[in-house]
This record gives sequence, structure tokens and C-alpha cells, in this order.
Amino acid sequence: MLIAEKKLEIKEIVKNARSEGRTIGLVPTMGYLHKGHVSLINRAKMDGCFTVVSIFVNPLQFGPTEDFEKYPRDIERDIEILKQADTDVAFIPSISEMYHNTHLTQVDVSILSEKLEGVFRPGHFKGVCTVVAKLFNIIRPDRAYFGWKDAQQLIIIRKMVADLDFNLEIVPVPTVREDDGLAASSRNVYLSDQDRKKACVLSKALHKIRKMVELYKITDVRILLEESKKIIETENVELQYIEAVDLETLKPVTSIKKNTGILAAIKVGNVRLIDNVIWE
Ligand code: PAF
Repeated sequence: MLIAEKKLEIKEIVKNARSEGRTIGLVPTMGYLHKGHVSLINRAKMDGCFTVVSIFVNPLQFGPTEDFEKYPRDIERDIEILKQADTDVAFIPSISEMYHNTHLTQVDVSILSEKLEGVFRPGHFKGVCTVVAKLFNIIRPDRAYFGWKDAQQLIIIRKMVADLDFNLEIVPVPTVREDDGLAASSRNVYLSDQDRKKACVLSKALHKIRKMVELYKITDVRILLEESKKIIETENVELQYIEAVDLETLKPVTSIKKNTGILAAIKVGNVRLIDNVIWE
């Protein structure tokens, strides 16, 4: 596996792969890799891509009171995981390589960025879109892989790609879960054993919703949300939101049908967790 730290290096590597006729697949990450990331890499490899994985903890997407400094990092372990997953190249730039000290520009996919997560993390998606737009411009992938776990992020990036005419395909990949149902996330390491048990109430509630829709054909959002809130209330966690929305506009919907989903966030102690159930 190649490792590039400089934009010029990664551009050269990608140029060579492209000249050999390879399709370029990008998996953007903030590192501390887990099986959710590996499933994105596997999908890119399955698609036959020359697979680039970026690791960059992007300061722009963390609020002033958020966990940028504390965000889990372990580059050596990440590199091992990437090698095991048969990644072609890791792009691991420094902050100064990504943002020169006069950087001013931010990409704002308005309206979509202000809903749901945006209420609790103002400015977060501006930071995400800015770094993802930069990665797209540096690497020029043919495809970029994003997990449904971060559904709002995926929807916003799709919109950015459409609005700004980026010439690539966004490939959504299903959420990967731990054995206890918790959606795989780098932030799961913050949870104590006790809090982890409490956190599982969210995936349990969403699983119940899926069953009600798919098995019992209950599609009335009022009934589904009522039931899910009842389940979440059985644990000492803070429900920040649970909403049924259209998967393109993020506007609320009153019944579940194709292209809708239920997106939720809870706080367990100091740890925020998001999860969702979607009908693509
Ligand atoms: O999902 C993430 O890990 C990040 O938001 C991303 C897309 C790598 C941008 O920093």
C-alpha cells in the first residue's frame, strides 16, 4: 500500500492509476477505522476501483465545544487495517497541507445542513462539505463511498455534488452494526460498558420500527415514533431528535414509503450517537 502525505504526491499516484485505465474510488475517513470503514473499502474494491482512503481529522467540522482534540486517533493501527483491506493508497495529510493559514472558503449546502444534526451541531456540515469538496478536487475520484450511518451527511454531499457539478458518483453503503446492534462508529470507544448497554436502546427502537413497517405494514409515522420513544424512554438517555424525513429534502413525512427514513440522535452521558432506519 502506498502512503501519500502531500497533495502533489496523491495527485501523481492517482494520475498514474488513471493512465493505466483504473477507476478511482475514494473512501474519505477521519481515521480510527472500524468495520464500517472496511465495508466501504470492500465495496470500492468490489467495484474494481483503485481505492484511495483519506485519513484526516478535519478541524473545520468540529464545534468549539466538541471533541476535536480528544477525537480517537491511531495511525499505526489504521495503516494495518488499510493494508489488510487491500487499500491501494492512503492519503494522510497534515492540517497545514489541507488548509493553508489564509483559508477562507466554506461550502454551505444551506437548509439541509440546518436540520436535525445541524440544530445540535451548527456549522458542522459546512466543515464536512468544505473538506469533502477539497478531497474531491485533489483526488478527482470517479466514485466516492459514504455510509448510510451518517444519513444526513450522505444526503447533503449528494446535493453538493449535484449543485456544484462534481463529476463523480456517490455510492451509499449500508450501516454496519456491532453484535449488540450498535451502529459501528469511531466514537463508540467513548462509551463505558454501562453506557454502551444504554446506547443500544436506540438501535433496538429503530429495529422495532423496521419490523413494524416491513412485517406489520404500519406506515403511520405518528404510531411509529410513539412506539420508538416509548422504547428509548426505558433507558436513562437523552433523546435529541427522532424524525421521519424524505431522504432527498429532509422534509418531515407523515407516512413511511420508498425514499424515506427515520433519523435519530441520543446523548448517553457526554456521548452523542446517531442512527437511522431508511427505506431507499
Ligand atoms: O464521515 C466522516 O468521517 C467525515 O465527516 C468525513 C466525510 C471523512 C469528512 O471529514
